[in-house]
Amino acid sequence: MQLSRKPLLALLLVLAALPSRAMAGHDGRGGVARGDDCCGAWEGVSCDAATGRVVALQLEAPPPLLPPRRHYMEGGTLSGSLGGLEFLETLVIRDMARIGGAIPASLSRLSRLKQLYLEGNLLAGGIPSSLSKITSLQYLSLAGNRLEGKLPPELGSLSSLVQINLAGNRLSGEVPPSYKNLSRLEYLDLSNNLLSGAIPAFFGLQLRSLALLDLSNNSFSGEIPASLCCLRNLTDFSVSHNKLTGVIPSQIGSIASLNSLSIDSNLLVGSIPESLFGLRKLWNLNLSRNGLSGSLPPGIRHGLPAIVSMDLSHNHLVGGIDQFFRSISTPGRPTKLISSKNASSDMSVIFLPRELQHLDLSKNRITGALPEFGAGASLIWLDVSGNAIGGQIPGSVSKLSGLQRLDISRNKIRGTIPASMAGMASLRWLDMSGNAIVGRIPDSFAGMARLRHASFRGNKLCGKIPQARPFNLLPAAAYAGNLCLCGKPLPPCRQI
Ligand SMILES: *[C@@H]1O[C@H](CO)[C@@H](O)[C@H](O)[C@H]1NC(C)=O
Ligand SMILES: *[C@@H]1O[C@H](CO)[C@@H](O)[C@H](O)[C@H]1NC(C)=O
Ligand SMILES: *[C@@H]1O[C@H](CO)[C@@H](O)[C@H](O)[C@H]1NC(C)=O
Ligand SMILES: *[C@@H]1O[C@H](CO)[C@@H](O)[C@H](O)[C@H]1NC(C)=O
Ligand SMILES: *[C@@H]1O[C@H](CO)[C@@H](O)[C@H](O)[C@H]1NC(C)=O
Repeated sequence: MQLSRKPLLALLLVLAALPSRAMAGHDGRGGVARGDDCCGAWEGVSCDAATGRVVALQLEAPPPLLPPRRHYMEGGTLSGSLGGLEFLETLVIRDMARIGGAIPASLSRLSRLKQLYLEGNLLAGGIPSSLSKITSLQYLSLAGNRLEGKLPPELGSLSSLVQINLAGNRLSGEVPPSYKNLSRLEYLDLSNNLLSGAIPAFFGLQLRSLALLDLSNNSFSGEIPASLCCLRNLTDFSVSHNKLTGVIPSQIGSIASLNSLSIDSNLLVGSIPESLFGLRKLWNLNLSRNGLSGSLPPGIRHGLPAIVSMDLSHNHLVGGIDQFFRSISTPGRPTKLISSKNASSDMSVIFLPRELQHLDLSKNRITGALPEFGAGASLIWLDVSGNAIGGQIPGSVSKLSGLQRLDISRNKIRGTIPASMAGMASLRWLDMSGNAIVGRIPDSFAGMARLRHASFRGNKLCGKIPQARPFNLLPAAAYAGNLCLCGKPLPPCRQI
């Protein structure tokens, strides 16, 4: 178990740049090497049992609650001597929020390195192109630093790479064409940088093993390449917060493996391809904040059986909300009660996909009326605000028993507030402002224990506000612009 002197010296040089308590650890162990057995004494150092060589070095911040957090790391840089740990297979320096400076080019000498994680530090400067000499490298993460400059084209020769995570830096420029050689890549996260240029078509053509592709929050422009259709293992695809133009290629709907598709906050136009509504594994769909037009997807037979979260907000979509709900309504559940005398109304009852929790259709041009809902949904968040929805609030909205947030504001909803809504025991946030709702706020609302926020502003309501919290404690603005509401927080009702 002898450790050869050179690597130990190198290790000490690395650590010499840091105050001794940096390696002391939160429990005080590890600051002093016990004899020659560096591997046992140093926390985070692992050695090969046979050779005694350091094969893994892992420096991570202590759990956040353990003192002394503040003085854990006073500063320091990565020593070039790290490159001397030539038997290293794993190097992890993670969440050491005070380690700054450049990534030493000498790391290129770590010819056995498979995993390099230098995440959540303050590393600055460029990504050394010499990293391309570590041909054994499979996992590379430099995420969450202050790295800048371009993506080194040389990294394209690292054909063993399985994961690249460079998220959360200040990297700029385009994705180099040489990256088409990274044919084993399964995970590519370039999010939260300043990258630009087009999304390369070769992602779809050559990086066939990609399971995760996250390009969100950059300045990518041009169109979404239709070639992405061919990524048969892609589960997570995000290009949110870029400057992408053109239409959503219908070929995206043929990536049957997709779990999550986020294309929000771009400049996309055209209609939503119906093919997206055939994605049977999709649980997250975010198309919000684009210029999408055309109709809400009509009459989809199979719906999206796995959908958990769907955000189509802030677009220019038209179409009837009732048809839309019907289109995502799950088949195979009772949409018709045979013994009922009222077959036609039962036919219109909507059974939402069982997993659906979050639905946002706000700020579009949607018309129609809210349908009657059947029980058994898990919807938590329903926002249809800022559309042109008419009709009445269906009494059966109370069957959405898990609903925590309901926003139907700024529509053209008429009729009265169904008393049944008082039974929505999970509701925390209710906004029905800016409609044409008449009648009273039902007295039974006084029992809505979970409610924290409500707005009835800008309707045609009248009568006494329920004198219970939160209703009597809300700002008066929550009731402004109605016909004749009274009672706290508004002036008292006149005795008749
Ligand atoms: C990519 O691979 C091709 C052929 O496999 C090779 O000719 C080319 O040099 C490689 N490019 C890089 C940057 O490694
Ligand atoms: C975009 O990335 C920058 C830089 O990492 C970050 O500060 C910002 O919060 C990100 N914005 C969003 C919307 O994620
Ligand atoms: C896709 O994933 C499967 C199962 O993990 C794997 O066997 C297959 O090789 C992958 N395909 C590609 C192109 O990587
Ligand atoms: C969808 O994207 C928008 C804009 O980027 C974001 O604000 C919203 O929270 C996302 N929706 C969901 C359900 O995550
Ligand atoms: C028939 O439908 C109307 C309107 O939705 C409803 O008011 C009535 O209670 C229903 N009758 C039966 C028997 O379900």
